[in-house]
Amino acid sequence: NYVYVKYNSKLKISSRVEFTNLKCTSMDKEFAGIGECLLKSINRTYKYISLRLNLYKTPITKIKINYGMYKRLSGYKPFLYNQSVDACRFIDNQKSNPVAKYLYGFIERFSNLNHSCPYNHDLILDKLSAESANYRFTEVLPFPEGDYMIEGHWILNGKFCALYQVYFSLT
Ligand SMILES: *[C@@H]1O[C@H](CO)[C@@H](O)[C@H](O)[C@H]1NC(C)=O
Ligand SMILES: *[C@@H]1O[C@H](CO)[C@@H](O)[C@H](O)[C@H]1NC(C)=O
Ligand SMILES: *[C@@H]1O[C@H](CO)[C@@H](O)[C@H](O)[C@H]1NC(C)=O
Repeated sequence: NYVYVKYNSKLKISSRVEFTNLKCTSMDKEFAGIGECLLKSINRTYKYISLRLNLYKTPITKIKINYGMYKRLSGYKPFLYNQSVDACRFIDNQKSNPVAKYLYGFIERFSNLNHSCPYNHDLILDKLSAESANYRFTEVLPFPEGDYMIEGHWILNGKFCALYQVYFSLT
């Protein structure tokens, strides 16, 4: 239930990504804590997101991520994606899931998730810049302008541990 937009080099795309808000919620404080949840503006052009999920019950052998995209119309409405991915399986066979691969491409270079399960460490996303997100949104797969939110539910070893909401606009 997703849509591919073919990239057309004649299409004029002037979109820019701007992170507007970030919410991180621990859903099970015995299992995981929000170590960092930062949306930082260094200057007008350099803005980044850093996340750290502290894990208290390692090793993590099963990771399910349910992610959904929302677009603001009157309130945030589901837009294009709401899927779940078995991250342990996905990380070893990324071709198996094109949408997850596209989304993972946003965080790949900035995270410490890039290895096979199990995970014995906290999960980190280090300084994901709007600049890099901009490239994927506008060059790899163009999206219409508007306000968006991506929500992620992290289910680790069968427990719903953390909820992430990243708000951004494309102008
Ligand atoms: C913004 O900050 C980054 C990182 O410190 C720096 O490399 C860049 O030159 C700055 N840009 C402007 C317009 O000041
Ligand atoms: C995906 O859809 C289900 C069913 O409507 C909903 O309960 C869930 O919160 C959605 N997931 C995300 C990450 O938005
Ligand atoms: C992890 O990153 C390295 C270097 O970027 C890459 O060669 C490797 O294929 C990646 N591994 C996985 C499982 O994605």
